Amino acid sequence: MRKKLIAANWKMYKTPDQTRDFFHDFLPLVHGPDRNAGRDEIVVCPTYLCLEAAVTAAKGSNVAIGAQNLYWEKEGAFTGEVNAAMLLAVGVTHVIIGHSERRQYFGETDDTVNLKLKSAIEAGLIPIVCVGEVLEEREAGLTDDVLRRQCLRAFHKVSAKKAVSLVVAYEPVWAIGTGKTATPQMAADAHAIIRAEAAESFGQEFADKLRILYGGSVKPENAHALMSEEEIDGALVGGASLDPKSFASIVKY
Ligand code: PGA
Repeated sequence: MRKKLIAANWKMYKTPDQTRDFFHDFLPLVHGPDRNAGRDEIVVCPTYLCLEAAVTAAKGSNVAIGAQNLYWEKEGAFTGEVNAAMLLAVGVTHVIIGHSERRQYFGETDDTVNLKLKSAIEAGLIPIVCVGEVLEEREAGLTDDVLRRQCLRAFHKVSAKKAVSLVVAYEPVWAIGTGKTATPQMAADAHAIIRAEAAESFGQEFADKLRILYGGSVKPENAHALMSEEEIDGALVGGASLDPKSFASIVKY
């Protein structure tokens, strides 16, 4: 059995004060007996600026904190960047890599995703690598090819031994922030492609254990159906994770 992981991607929302307020309201909803105590892994990914506030607020709870990005160099003249060691130093355990918004607006490529993945696993962070097709690719029947290419390049020269904590998030770009969700069956089909690619890169045993999350307009109303799909090992939630009650009901699906 793969333990499910439910992750909040806050994108460019919330100040440190708003982060503290969120945890104040959220933790009592998910912490404690019969409130998803230990059933799933729960992660919240705020902006860099709110990481410390989030780590402090979540201390002693069942919620881990992740970053939304990182840079692969150890240190140096890289204005505006933050590396894996810095994230670990403030208590971060997870990191999102290659989100489609970073690919679309900030020039992220399959190659930079690969460099970021290698630096995250080298440092001991749990990487959540995002892949997914845009609408034109799906309509042209290219979903398989796109997912295979994104995975193959992301996993290039990554050792299975080091990548044990790897998590992949399947996020069809046409479903992000649009209210359109892939059906559980569509998501399960895409997950099977990703798992097959992981088996090629890392071996079948690794692929069987790999957690693949679904992301794209996950809401309290559709979380249960998605999470009931055997191939879906959790969710990466954007908009619906900003409100404590809404994210808590997704966590409790
Ligand atoms: P959404 O975003 O839930 O708002 O669609 C998901 C994501 O981008 O990770």
